[in-house]
Amino acid sequence: MNYRNKLISGEKKIAVWGTGYIGLSTMAYFSKKKINCIGYDVDEKKVKNINKGILPIKELKEWFGFEIKSMVRSKHLKATNNIIKLYDENICVHFIAIPTEKDGKPFFSILFKVLKNIVSILKKFPDTKPMIIIESTLTPEFSEKKIIPFFKKNKVIPGKDFIYGVAPRRDWFVEKTKSLETLDRVFGSTDEASSLKMKSVLSLVCKKLHCASSHKVSEMVKSIENAYRHMEITLANQLSLAFPKEDMREVLRLVGTKWNIGTFYPGFGTGGYCIPLSSQYVLQQVKNKKSLSLLRETIKTDSAINKLIAKSIIRRGFKKIGILGLSYKGNLKVDILSPIIPFVKELKKNRIDVKVYDPYYTPKEIKKILNVNAFRFPTDLNKFDCIVVSVDHDEFKKNLGKIFKKFKKTKFILDNNGIWENSKKSLKKYNYHISGDNNWI
Ligand SMILES: NC(=O)c1ccc[n+]([C@@H]2O[C@H](COP(=O)([O-])OP(=O)(O)OC[C@H]3O[C@@H](n4cnc5c(N)ncnc54)[C@H](O)[C@@H]3O)[C@@H](O)[C@H]2O)c1
Repeated sequence: MNYRNKLISGEKKIAVWGTGYIGLSTMAYFSKKKINCIGYDVDEKKVKNINKGILPIKELKEWFGFEIKSMVRSKHLKATNNIIKLYDENICVHFIAIPTEKDGKPFFSILFKVLKNIVSILKKFPDTKPMIIIESTLTPEFSEKKIIPFFKKNKVIPGKDFIYGVAPRRDWFVEKTKSLETLDRVFGSTDEASSLKMKSVLSLVCKKLHCASSHKVSEMVKSIENAYRHMEITLANQLSLAFPKEDMREVLRLVGTKWNIGTFYPGFGTGGYCIPLSSQYVLQQVKNKKSLSLLRETIKTDSAINKLIAKSIIRRGFKKIGILGLSYKGNLKVDILSPIIPFVKELKKNRIDVKVYDPYYTPKEIKKILNVNAFRFPTDLNKFDCIVVSVDHDEFKKNLGKIFKKFKKTKFILDNNGIWENSKKSLKKYNYHISGDNNWI
């Protein structure tokens, strides 16, 4: 089947399983090319919003640079929570974009639920030979050890009854320049002919595709590239812990001027779906407990750093702490594995009075996630002896005069990303530190 032509002509359509960041962006970009897409999600509210042309995650508008309303109106983009709508012989490509992690660990139950449904769709329409592309993050060898045997057990064979491929995502939902269209994307399938067909579909949207020799390779690329980042970010923290009196931030900024080295700064540690889990993903199928010790140490340090920062604040004797930021990334509402969660937990364990403000979260949400009260920004900043700016939301960078005026009782400021670095001199009297500088921890 010529998947590409059938999609372009409107004869066939795309199904997307999971309409979160990844799935909805898949739908948005393909439907922008006038390709019919139907997204299935168990979250009723999300489905309703999408069908009204409302982005359930409003930050996506900035990142896309376009609205989804026109695609919904032209019926190229639809969402449903009725599985029956996916039993459609005109679906020729299934993108899978459901979560593959839970409670900080790789988790594949949802994936198998989805695969079970796709198998029964395949059996209902045995002649359709659809393409199944996994966008969700997988652990190395997962396809070979779990997914393909699952298909075979259900008597459907990749390459024969359908095309199987793995095309992980690298999106950075903050910078417009790093979109599904523009980012380099690696993909792979079970054989060359299938890879070519997969390329013909992905290239409808993605401009820079890299074909791996197999799905096994493309699957591994995702967790290994992130494990590299995980290790480099954590090395910055280990260096800072080893030389606490030195300005490791400055050292690393200058180290990063070398042509083949990236710049990584110490801080609260990694957050979000991808980086904190990447080393665990790589290690999941590795039986020898001594191999990849670098990644094992990375996990240990990265999960301990936020508690070490909390302990150092407690040692300094502060009693009232105001934290600016719950999200793990600036200008986004994502608290998945945010290092602020264990940081707050550690402070609370030591009976420190902690309050949090994040413009992306309501006081109710803050209470639910962190079990602490929210404070009014900037009004209540005058109540804290220690202020922690954990994330670089734009709101924290504006009207600095108004913010700094509130530092009535402030004895210590820890700025994780250095967003107030330009005001360093005027903040010196408040014992201002940026993560990684001398004596920050
Ligand atoms: N967000 C990122 O930056 C990013 C980047 C690269 C890879 N990934 C990977 O992509 C995958 C999805 O991530 P995301 O950020 O889009 O997650 P998300 O939580 O934003 O979206 C997942 C969606 O799947 C839905 N869902 C849950 N169970 C379902 C089911 N049984 N059937 C259908 N839908 C179901 C949820 O309701 C949710 O809307 C994960 O494996 C993640 O690791 C994410």
